[in-house]
This record gives sequence, structure tokens and C-alpha cells, in this order.
Amino acid sequence: MKKILVTGGLGQIGTELIMTLRGVYGNENVIASSIEPDCPDFIRETGVYESVDVLDAKKLGEVCRKHDINQIVHLAAILSAVGESKPQLAYDINMNGLFNVLEVARETGSGVFTPSSIAAFGPSTPKDMTPQDTVQRPTTMYGVTKVAGELLCDYYHQRYGVDTRGVRFPGLISYKALPGGGTTDYAVHIYYEAIKNRKYTSYIAQGTKMDMMYMPDAIKSILDLMEADPSKLIHRNAFNIAAMSFAPEDLAVEIMKHIPDFRLDYAVDPVRQEIADSWPNSLDDSTARAEWGWKPEYDIAKMTADMLEKLAEKLGKTYK
Ligand code: SER
Repeated sequence: MKKILVTGGLGQIGTELIMTLRGVYGNENVIASSIEPDCPDFIRETGVYESVDVLDAKKLGEVCRKHDINQIVHLAAILSAVGESKPQLAYDINMNGLFNVLEVARETGSGVFTPSSIAAFGPSTPKDMTPQDTVQRPTTMYGVTKVAGELLCDYYHQRYGVDTRGVRFPGLISYKALPGGGTTDYAVHIYYEAIKNRKYTSYIAQGTKMDMMYMPDAIKSILDLMEADPSKLIHRNAFNIAAMSFAPEDLAVEIMKHIPDFRLDYAVDPVRQEIADSWPNSLDDSTARAEWGWKPEYDIAKMTADMLEKLAEKLGKTYK
């Protein structure tokens, strides 16, 4: 049976992943952790929560041993936009945090799942249907740490036999917890503003396509890859996965199918626009499909219908 520690457990992914993992593996087998001293009630009431800074290697090791952890899902990270304003923090958490996790995994025989990102690509990468194995020369601190992280995970597998696995996440869209300072966050904020104010001002310019995914598919990818038959995995880390690719105006068209008077305008943020321009338009995910059966369920239309309904419920608003 898996005994799982999730780091960064109170973030956009962790908040949802922890509850799904507890449903699948049992509440007592999924330990939530984050740097915060305390956690929301729904996490505490369903299982154990540990306050762990991933830069504190000693505490990380103690928590893993105390709970007999054999699988770490390492989500603690600084995202792309924050990384450009706080490069030292991004380097420290994204590199040294991962290094500490891999070292603990090596010592305790744990597996490690950790996400990479579309940010692991850069301006010289083929932009459309970006291949699994291609040029990776990112131009953000976040991207640099993600490429290095992919390599570190491969290294710990090859050199020490640590069962490392991971995907390259696109922008993730969800209604439970907000993303924390990424470039793709506009695709979440737009839904909040559509429901609250029937308009949104995008900091990403018209025509800027990026790969995106609805959270249920992201969660499914983590579970599917963690459970995948290792003998079928030629790659281990950094699988391209894709669900949809769109620009802000494409999302507006979908939202207007539900909120016809929704209006989108633009006030472009040069920093985040430059980041977005350096990333692919769309990824080729055929390797993930072939090696572990990756298949998304949500396209832009299905996601938008579900997102608006669930978010309106959460905000206590109607939009129809
Ligand atoms: N969503 C992330 C970001 O925008 C990409 O991994 O930083």
C-alpha cells in the first residue's frame, strides 16, 4: 500500500489532489504538508497535516520516517511570474526543495512524483505540437529550475534507482484554490470576473495561445502515472501532457455561450507577456498516450460549462 506525503499541499493542485488521494488510498495513508503552520478544516478533519518547509531537509526526513512514507508527491514550488520578481527564492525552493526531496527518497526508498511545466521550453523550442524530446532553453528562472529538475529526477532514477515520475503541466484551471503567481493564471481569474462582473481585463495579449488543462484531468494524470506499469515507461519524468490550447479571446467566446454580455479587454503586462511568448502554443502528448495511456476528458467547452457552474455555486452567485 502506498503511504504518501504531499508537499505544497495547500496550493492549487495540492488542495484537490490530497482529497482525491485520500479517497483512493485511504485517509490514513495520505499525509498533507506545506510550509503553513496550519491547514483548512477539511484537510485536518480527514487526515494528518504536517507543517514542513521543504528547505528543512532534517524535518522532511523526520516526517517521512515518522509516517513510513514510501511515495512523495512534491508540489512545493514558486511559479513563473513570482520567479521573475524573486529569482533567489524561486531558485532556492525549486532546486534545493527538490534536491532535499530526492535525497530523502533515496535514503528511505520512496518514489517521487513531481511536476515539470510547459515553462521548461523556451523561444528556440518548436512552438506548435512541441515534441516530447526537443530543444529546452527556457528564458525564465522558473523554466531553468524546471529543466534542471527534470534532469535531477532522471539522474536519481538512473543513478540510485529512485522511482521518479512526472509530467509537464500546462496552465491549470480550477475553482477550489487559486494559482499562486503564474503566467497562465488569467485563465482562472477570467471565470471569477465573468461571474462577478461580466467582464475581464486580460494581462495576456489577444492571439497568445498557451496549453491549458482542467484540474480533474491534471489530478487524473498524477494518479495514472503514479500507478503506471514501470516496465512500459521509456521516459520517467517530464511527460508532455495536453488537453487544450487557447488564447484569451477563445476563452471569451466559450464564456459568452453562457454569459452573452461578457466582455473581454486587455491591459497587457509586459513581464508575463514575454514569458507567455517564450512558451509553446501546444504540446505533442503522444509519448504519454503511448507509454501510460494518457487521455484527457475535458476540452474548452466542457471545462467552461463545468467551471462556471461550480464556481458560481462556490461564490453563491448566479450568472444565467
Ligand atoms: N502555470 C504555470 C505558470 O504559469 C506554468 O507551469 O507559471
